[in-house]
Amino acid sequence: SALSPDERAPYLVQSSGRPYHALIAQQFERDSLDLLCDLATRIRRIAKSRDGMKFLSDLLCHKRAMLYFSQPSSRTFLSFYAACQILGMRVAEVRDTSISSEMKGETPTDSVRTFGSYFDMIIMRTPWQGFVEEMAWMLSNTERPLPIINAGSGKDQHPTQALLDIYTLQRSFEKNGGLENKHVVFCGDLKRGRTVRSLSRLLTYYPNIRQTFAAPEALQIGQDILDQLDAAGVNYDVTTDFKATIPDADAIYMTRVQSEWDNPDGEKPKYNWADYSFTAADLLVLKRTGVILHPLPRRQELDPACDNDPRAVYWRQMRNGMWIRCALIANIFGREQEITHYYMMN
Ligand code: CP
Repeated sequence: SALSPDERAPYLVQSSGRPYHALIAQQFERDSLDLLCDLATRIRRIAKSRDGMKFLSDLLCHKRAMLYFSQPSSRTFLSFYAACQILGMRVAEVRDTSISSEMKGETPTDSVRTFGSYFDMIIMRTPWQGFVEEMAWMLSNTERPLPIINAGSGKDQHPTQALLDIYTLQRSFEKNGGLENKHVVFCGDLKRGRTVRSLSRLLTYYPNIRQTFAAPEALQIGQDILDQLDAAGVNYDVTTDFKATIPDADAIYMTRVQSEWDNPDGEKPKYNWADYSFTAADLLVLKRTGVILHPLPRRQELDPACDNDPRAVYWRQMRNGMWIRCALIANIFGREQEITHYYMMN
């Protein structure tokens, strides 16, 4: 599932091996995931004190980030915004292209090139698969190349969500044998849910993880992901019976129906949503050490009655997004050693 060195070259262009862009989940390998998770923990702990916050906010005070989100977002946008603030970066945003010059006919490509004139990093969410990679290539060939972070693209990739999911799973299992050898069950709209597609790829870097995809047939995970799991020798199951998977799961990853991708003139996928929901009754059969994740936002597939159970880690998962995004930005700009040094000394 890893990219070949040739495929990876455009993404890892810094001689140090640290990422330049963050475009697709599988550009991160096990050692870079471990580095980012450790760095996130250090930043999280440093940020607990006023002196620590002062240290962090000086790290990138000379950098500016553009948040270009042409699809709706709460968590990803705000956690990137907060991460930039923690590291001292100044931030601007375009979230509504109807008040940008795209309304006058400017192409999104020209918009991105325009942002490249004023900022030091572009963090972007887009409905188009492959567009972020194209923009990274385009900017690489301008007089002012700059890093791009994919904050969600089309139905395909949400690499920083996968990073925060890995961080959450690692934290959840750190006193229970680590992430290795665990059984992760994905449930919901797996066909159009980019978070599952990105996380499934990253889980292949951990030994003996079993992945189960529980979804109605019309919303089942894509064959391309299963082919990658086959190629990586990963043990997986595909099922329509979610409820039967719960007792054996170490982690349940719930997702909502991605109805924004429904064809307005076509037929909607037909299924009984209750069969693909996690309720308070399901807590009774979930392992004592099991955890429930959700990238959020949720709809009816995850009962709020589960929220106060200690195994419901989705609020912590959301907060972890801010810390891992701090770590990623700091890593791209080469600040990890400074952070580690401060952490060790304080
Ligand atoms: N998980 C996630 O991407 O949430 P938002 O759409 O709110 O950013």
